[in-house]
Amino acid sequence: MLVPMRILLDHAAENNYGVAALNVNNMEQIQAIMEAAKETNSPVIIQASRGARKYTNDAYLRHLMLAAVELYPEIPVAMHLDHGNAPDTCFSAIQQGFTSVMMDGSLAADGKTPATYDENVAVTKQVVDVAHAFGVTVEGEIGVLGGIEDGHGAGGSGLDHVTDPAEAERFVAATGVDALAVAIGTSHGAYKFDKKPTGDVLKMSIIEEIHRRLPNTHLVMHGSSSVPRELVDLVNKYGGKMKESYGVPLEEIQRGIKHGVRKVNVDTDNRLAITSAIRKVFAETPDKFDPRDYMAPARESMKAVCKERMTAFGQAGNASKIKSVSLATMVSFYAKKK
Ligand code: G3H
Ligand code: 13P
Ligand code: ZN
Repeated sequence: MLVPMRILLDHAAENNYGVAALNVNNMEQIQAIMEAAKETNSPVIIQASRGARKYTNDAYLRHLMLAAVELYPEIPVAMHLDHGNAPDTCFSAIQQGFTSVMMDGSLAADGKTPATYDENVAVTKQVVDVAHAFGVTVEGEIGVLGGIEDGHGAGGSGLDHVTDPAEAERFVAATGVDALAVAIGTSHGAYKFDKKPTGDVLKMSIIEEIHRRLPNTHLVMHGSSSVPRELVDLVNKYGGKMKESYGVPLEEIQRGIKHGVRKVNVDTDNRLAITSAIRKVFAETPDKFDPRDYMAPARESMKAVCKERMTAFGQAGNASKIKSVSLATMVSFYAKKK
């Protein structure tokens, strides 16, 4: 069933778990997520970036996501826009049927230049006003992540623009977002830390402080791939050339979940799972040329990562406990809060 993301995050908060938000660009990734969700009885957040919408095309994406909803009626699914760069991007996602949008006003509309606090509040509030009138959930971001993914991001270290908890508190009051992404030292992509991160580079203490100030706001950790050593090694074993790298350890994410983190964004780990599996087929059986011979193992490999994350974040076992709530019900919910 298709649900507003807010419903999933509320259930996660009431029951102290986190939900993986998994990026998709094609059919096999959606299939991997849904099979993992079915096998673990997990609610699902499927998210598509601007890059994904451009690569796949909105019509393909919408139909693929809705196919997942049709084929797995027992699994609650939220369709979420990842890193919307401007109000119009969020509005077009709402028109496409997304039940949740991220207005990433931490960066200007170019997706690169850090925005001012006032600019961020202005665009985010504009999106909240429209999205809530349609019952759609909104995620905002305060502070800026490190790294650049597909042209999106300020670049630099994850420590350049760490979230100020006092500013986070003002931002939520000024915008009314449902969920807040915070910057605590992580970066998008495979290269986050050059050794296993400790508290000086991965500032989980900031999450604790923000949760203390905003106990009713759902916090979001971006750049939360763990970059498993085994997957990087497999990529390299079969001809890849990835540098050594460290991601966000699962135990740190679990610590975040104890302190208000309800949505955990993971893309890179699934990319590694897919690429390592495809490289293996190419290296071991170079005679193969049917895409199904490598896409099927790639899908299996991503499914295994998704199952692991769903279990580690605690969402496993919860799909069947979540009741369907319509966007119309959410419209009245938001109207009453005004
Ligand atoms: O925000 C980063 C996600 O991993 C999406 O990446 O913009 O390359 O699709 P993308
Ligand atoms: P990773 O690159 O760590 O998977 O982060 C994904 C993300 O934050 C998507 O918004
Ligand atoms: Zn992100």
